Amino acid sequence: MGTLLKVILVGAILGFTHRIGFYKEVEPVDLPNCQLIKGMEYGSEDIHILPSGLAFASTGLKNPQLKCFGPDKPAEILLIDLNEETIHPISLQISDGYDVSSLNPHGLSAYTDEKDGSIYLFVVSHPLPQYSSIIEIFKFNSENKVLVHQKSISHPLLHSVNDLVAVGPESFYATNDFYFKTPAMMHLEMIIGLKKSNVVYYSPGDVREVATGFYLCNGIAVSPDGKYIYLADTFGHTVNVLEKHANWSLSNVKKSVDLETLVDNISVDPETGDIWAGCQISLFKVMFYKEDDVPGSEVVRVQNIHSERPVVTRVYAENGSLIQGSSVAAVYKKKLLVGTVFHRALYCQLE
Ligand SMILES: *[C@@H]1O[C@H](CO)[C@@H](O)[C@H](O)[C@H]1NC(C)=O
Ligand SMILES: *[C@@H]1O[C@H](CO)[C@@H](O)[C@H](O)[C@H]1NC(C)=O
Ligand SMILES: *[C@@H]1O[C@H](CO)[C@@H](O)[C@H](O)[C@H]1NC(C)=O
Repeated sequence: MGTLLKVILVGAILGFTHRIGFYKEVEPVDLPNCQLIKGMEYGSEDIHILPSGLAFASTGLKNPQLKCFGPDKPAEILLIDLNEETIHPISLQISDGYDVSSLNPHGLSAYTDEKDGSIYLFVVSHPLPQYSSIIEIFKFNSENKVLVHQKSISHPLLHSVNDLVAVGPESFYATNDFYFKTPAMMHLEMIIGLKKSNVVYYSPGDVREVATGFYLCNGIAVSPDGKYIYLADTFGHTVNVLEKHANWSLSNVKKSVDLETLVDNISVDPETGDIWAGCQISLFKVMFYKEDDVPGSEVVRVQNIHSERPVVTRVYAENGSLIQGSSVAAVYKKKLLVGTVFHRALYCQLE
């Protein structure tokens, strides 16, 4: 093998191991006043908190590539009321006429219609065995706590959807985590760091790619004023700030913020505008799960993201003895929820 080729190969492998956090050790950051949430033991793929303090969480994702502690647990959409003293998730009923057994829920996002206050819940589902990507839209009936199915959306541009953020009763931005569609090619994409992961805008009359050039697009959220989209690039270790235009195009407005860790799902505190990120310390340990060397958990907060010097703080980190593989963090009035890919969930009272 030529020297140049060796150098390129070693460089690619070093780049890859850095991106996935292969060497990374956990430096614990303690947070007092935390407790495990009863009823959320098998992963909480995504959590979305409404301004009212009601939170939706998806649970029971079966990803053939990942560990699963509850293979027989059905997929569920949970409702949590953060105004209550104790956190008590309830499973939402899904209306007749929708085949609940096909639901394999991943990212989710809720949209409140300003006209009549209706709440729409958008759920990314990966029906098995193909693990394809379908967006299911439900209308939330808050009186009898039922999700009434509205429509199912699939589109060639929505080929490997991870997360989405709803921006209208039928429109959203979605992230495709991978460019390729088969597991072998996805692994190659990760190793070489292809940077073709993208964001797609969807509305019934207009579907198009609105941002690309990322290693692995994951969580996506909208700023409280609705003007910006925040995008997590897991292997880029960054949160990117994109401006939303009237025609729904997105453009980069500033340098991305380096969180120095594998950013998974992000959420925005509606009161402060702070970004909260559930992060993976080592994705390697999540993907190649070992009982005697479990993945840890980390929560990072970004303040003043639009300023010259955003403040990045590691709020919480632990070695997995409590919760493994944190993937989402969301706050409501100093209450923090931390969800994981396939493990337990944590509730913390901040300050
Ligand atoms: C969100 O977190 C879940 C795990 O809780 C993870 O599986 C998923 O890839 C993350 N991405 C989303 C939905 O943004
Ligand atoms: C959308 O609007 C932006 C800003 O006005 C403009 O730069 C861009 O070219 C427009 N894109 C499309 C597809 O019309
Ligand atoms: C993980 O951390 C806990 C408490 O912080 C400690 O008791 C335990 O020994 C640690 N486990 C490993 C494998 O380092």
